Amino acid sequence: MLTELLDAAGPDAAAAIERAAALLREGGLVAFPTETVYGLGADATNPQAIEGVFAAKGRPADNPLIVHVRDLEGMERCAVTDERVRALALAFMPGPLTLVLPARDTVPPIARAGLPTVALRVPDHPVALALLERTGPLVAPSANLSGRPSPTTARHVLDDLQGRIAAVLDGGPCRVGIESTVLDLSGERPAILRPGIIGAAEIAEVIGGEGLVPSDEEREEMASATAGPESHAAPRAPGMKYRHYAPGIPVRLVIADEPPQLLLSGALLLTTESRVDFFPGVRTELLSESTLYEQFRRAEEEGVEEIVVYAAPGELSEGLLNRVRKAAEM
Ligand code: TXA
Ligand code: MG
Repeated sequence: MLTELLDAAGPDAAAAIERAAALLREGGLVAFPTETVYGLGADATNPQAIEGVFAAKGRPADNPLIVHVRDLEGMERCAVTDERVRALALAFMPGPLTLVLPARDTVPPIARAGLPTVALRVPDHPVALALLERTGPLVAPSANLSGRPSPTTARHVLDDLQGRIAAVLDGGPCRVGIESTVLDLSGERPAILRPGIIGAAEIAEVIGGEGLVPSDEEREEMASATAGPESHAAPRAPGMKYRHYAPGIPVRLVIADEPPQLLLSGALLLTTESRVDFFPGVRTELLSESTLYEQFRRAEEEGVEEIVVYAAPGELSEGLLNRVRKAAEM
């Protein structure tokens, strides 16, 4: 299969989006830009197309997908919503917040990995919204091969999925650069399953903050044990058991007031603005959500020996700290 590269940033954007929508309606797989990362889209009402998404990414069938919709009404057609959902929609939608809610049977079980819940979000990107307007709901996991960093440019998508998908809509680099915050509202109390740039404090302002951030113990349990009613055979947070965001080279995270002592000569150091000039002679770049995955991928291509991420305690956002930690996990 030849993967079409469709330019959605230039003068022919409308035609590119039209072409992408046509491919999706036929059951094809099309990657598209969102404000967070590129998603690998498929018609959320077409189980065969959804199966293709798992195959193209090499994604385990028990890790459910996010369904992307245009607005709150789109969400209500896919899930059972309540006052909290409406309040969060008012505050954050469109935007990088995904809600896990009790699913309606309009969402095929394969999209939800058989779970009684569905993850939903409204992306804050003009190309994604224009596409959704023409196609209806789209499942869209990040458009990378399973286990690779999420793509933040069309080129990253092609590097992983060239020949495996029908097309990529190129909308330029993604603004946010890390994946959406995933907030589970289906349980007894709300829980952040994946931190992102919308933080616990902001969410707490809208729905209250009691226990929003699960403890390490709770996370462990969510990733493995059965949660909720007996019919719930799968874990509540299946995503937690997979190693995500992993570049092919070692990543070392140093959180300390003092700079790291040992730096390999072939290392790439990523650090915060006030520290970039601390390390003469060491290849140093600015650490930020929007560039992290690009830096991971580039370091890999260039044969960097080690990536060292250095910050002082409390300096990194929840989302950034989470992604670097995951990449540094062995
Ligand atoms: O920013 C994003 O969220 C991007 C863009 C493309 O929208 N998408 C994305 O999708 O990161 P993906 O598939 O790479 O990550 C979705 C996460 C996974 O950790 C998955 O386990 C979790 O959401 N998830 C999906 N449905 C769920 C459900 N019903 N219950 C619990 N977790 C769920
Ligand atoms: Mg992903």
